Amino acid sequence: MSHPVNQPKRKLKLGAMLHGVGSSMSTWRHPELPSDASISIDYIKEQARIAEEGKLDLVFIADGLYINEKSIPHFLNRFEPVTILSAIGSVTSRIGVVGTLSTSYSEPFTVARQFASIDHITGGRAGWNVVTSPLEGSAKNFSRKEHPEHELRYEIAEEYLEVVRGLWDSWEDDAFVRNKETGVFFDPDKMHRLNHQGKHFSVEGPLNIARSKQGHPVVFQAGSSDSGRSLAARTADAVFTGHETIEEAQQFYRNVKERAAAFGRSPDEILIFPGIGPIVGRTAEEAERKYQEVADLVKVEEALLYLGRFFDHHDFSVYGLDEPFPDLGDIGANSFRSTTDRIKRKAKEEGLTLRQTALQVATPKTSFIGTPEQVADKIQAWFEQGAADGFMIGSTVPNGLRDFVELVVPVLQERGLFREEYEADTLRGNLGLPVPENRYTAARRKAAEAQVLPEQPETVPAP
Ligand SMILES: Cc1cc2nc3c(=O)[nH]c(=O)nc-3n(C[C@H](O)[C@H](O)[C@H](O)COP(=O)(O)O)c2cc1C
Repeated sequence: MSHPVNQPKRKLKLGAMLHGVGSSMSTWRHPELPSDASISIDYIKEQARIAEEGKLDLVFIADGLYINEKSIPHFLNRFEPVTILSAIGSVTSRIGVVGTLSTSYSEPFTVARQFASIDHITGGRAGWNVVTSPLEGSAKNFSRKEHPEHELRYEIAEEYLEVVRGLWDSWEDDAFVRNKETGVFFDPDKMHRLNHQGKHFSVEGPLNIARSKQGHPVVFQAGSSDSGRSLAARTADAVFTGHETIEEAQQFYRNVKERAAAFGRSPDEILIFPGIGPIVGRTAEEAERKYQEVADLVKVEEALLYLGRFFDHHDFSVYGLDEPFPDLGDIGANSFRSTTDRIKRKAKEEGLTLRQTALQVATPKTSFIGTPEQVADKIQAWFEQGAADGFMIGSTVPNGLRDFVELVVPVLQERGLFREEYEADTLRGNLGLPVPENRYTAARRKAAEAQVLPEQPETVPAP
């Protein structure tokens, strides 16, 4: 991609997914991975430090709200995201800390407050990954009779985000005067009640914490269906997604950016992060061996359980393993919809059996595999050919993050694709995202401009 002279070259963004014993049923058994990694604060701090040494933009914590005997080991025993963000934030100084919290099973006031707190604690490095919770069972843990259906979850999420963003503007940036001589702690004109009365929430405000350095913590959205894309395009700063091919990723990328433009936003204000699980070796054979070591740990019965979770823990053991992938009708549509659609489509298009599908889903052979140069080539191609603004790096093999930072990051830096030093001390700053102006300050500024310059056209820049 060519760049106009004098304009800084567009840089790749990178996040590290911290997922302890891994996103498969069996990685925990690997000799090089501590079997308590998901619940070891030392392990998690170490991973965060490695990510920061690599100058990555952020660490990312996924989450879920329902487990059973069939869940993967990492889901059975792991930290609550906001709590762990707080711990990571205090042992790092530049890297962003992003955690997942569900809009279907929480209250906007609490969540606005939690992320604002993390943003203050970290000096402006917090991010929230908005999810709507795919698993039906979550309802049973939150005193609900029913799991809200897919569209309703997104309707709730939209109003929820409106409330949270409103609460984050409760205080204008200079609201806290703290004048010990006069005894004035805050300026009441700069404190604002939201007074939100909506279909799903009624929240008066104000929030009991000031705006932080970033204005608003960075908002990620994970969910790639039609309604997920719309939510992201309207309001998110970044999207976490997953694609197997560059063509699929390009189509998604174009689509979300077009939707954002239709909402009057600049396409550069929403960053797309496909999740990838690179496997790097000093030689291609070494990378292949690392993949095989992990794949060999997975039994087909475990692969069926892993596959089943995406379909709301559907029991796949009732079907013939070597029969064509079963016709599931609507099973999974109210769960991980975009993911189940993809699995079903692929099985049909490629004529896969249940065994093949389960193993492919449980031990996906990433195309981001090989020598550092080969992996960097792939990343560069996706980045330069309109498929990604950045990547969420998952560790599909033990030491995956360390390998990536030690072997691939230097290649990306040499190619001028990735930073050698952090550009800023906030997550927004490093991601190149604007700090949202407080809505009340903006209104006051606009009113003042209109009074001073009544005849000026709207396009005159602010002083
Ligand atoms: C890449 C990706 C990552 C996701 N991460 C999480 C997560 O960490 N926790 C969670 O509860 N849901 C997660 N979800 C699920 C979504 O939030 C959503 O509840 C579900 O997938 C249905 O949305 P969709 O059909 O729009 O993808 C993720 C979805 C995608 C596509």
